[in-house]
This record gives sequence, C-alpha cells and structure tokens, in this order.
Amino acid sequence: MEDMAKFHTVRGYELLQQNKKLLTSAMEDYLEMIYRNSLIEGYMRINTLSELLNVQAPSATKMVQKLARLGLLKYEKYGIIFLTENGSEIGKYLLQRHNIIEAFLRNLGVEENLLLETELVEHILLADTIHRIEMFNRFVEQRPEWIKQFERYFSEYANA
Ligand code: CO
Repeated sequence: MEDMAKFHTVRGYELLQQNKKLLTSAMEDYLEMIYRNSLIEGYMRINTLSELLNVQAPSATKMVQKLARLGLLKYEKYGIIFLTENGSEIGKYLLQRHNIIEAFLRNLGVEENLLLETELVEHILLADTIHRIEMFNRFVEQRPEWIKQFERYFSEYANA
C-alpha cells in the first residue's frame, strides 16, 4: 500500500518535471486546489475554484483553459472541471508536497501564518528536499518527546 502511494508520488513528480517550464506557481495552486476538491466531490466548479483561490471568475476561467490545453484537465459545460489522469497525478503530488511542508513547519512549532508560509515555500523546494523533509517529519513524529524537548529549548533560549 505504501509502495503504491510512493509510486504515484514519483509519477506525479515526473509529470510535474515534464511540464515544469509550462507550469507556474499559480498553475500549481490551481491543480492542488482542484485535486483537493476532486477527492471529495470528484470534480470542481469554476465558481467554487475562484472563491477558494480568491481570484476573479474570468481569470480562473483563463487559467483553467490553459491547463486544459496542457491536457491536465477537462473543462466542461456548466463550469465543471475534471482532472485528467495526468492532472490528477500531478495534483496528488502537489497536495502531498503541501502536507509535508505544512507538517514540517508545525513540527518546528510554527503556528501563525502556517498556511501562508506553506503556500510560499511549496513552489520552490525540489523533490529530493521534499523527500528529505518527509523523512525528517517521520523521524521526529516517531519521537514526540524530541519535539517537546525542542519546544522547551526554544522557549528557553530563543529570546535569550
Ligand atoms: Co498548497
């Protein structure tokens, strides 16, 4: 089961690399958000998407059309968006990447602006680093006393 998940992540990353020059950070945000919603509902509505990403509907439509031309999604009548298999693989990788960085910042004790910073950082780290962070998360999460010790260390020395 875990191997399977890993396989998908690798595939998503490879597809992301193939599309690297074509995919901007904003496009990555779109794919991640569409994938999130597709997990729950199986699709995304353009209106919901523009609300969630806090952009105007016309610019959301433009971006969605670009992603459709890249073969990553299908944009159908009534504003309904479906990810293609490739789009879905990339979306899955992007969501995992997001969750890994968010967990890392949380393990560091970041609370304020956690989501904002995750959104900024996620686009710039390479896959090897993401993988390393993922392993680091696992390592410390298996040792929760280390996280507590670090919290104590931080509150004792950070402002000293
Ligand atoms: Co994100």
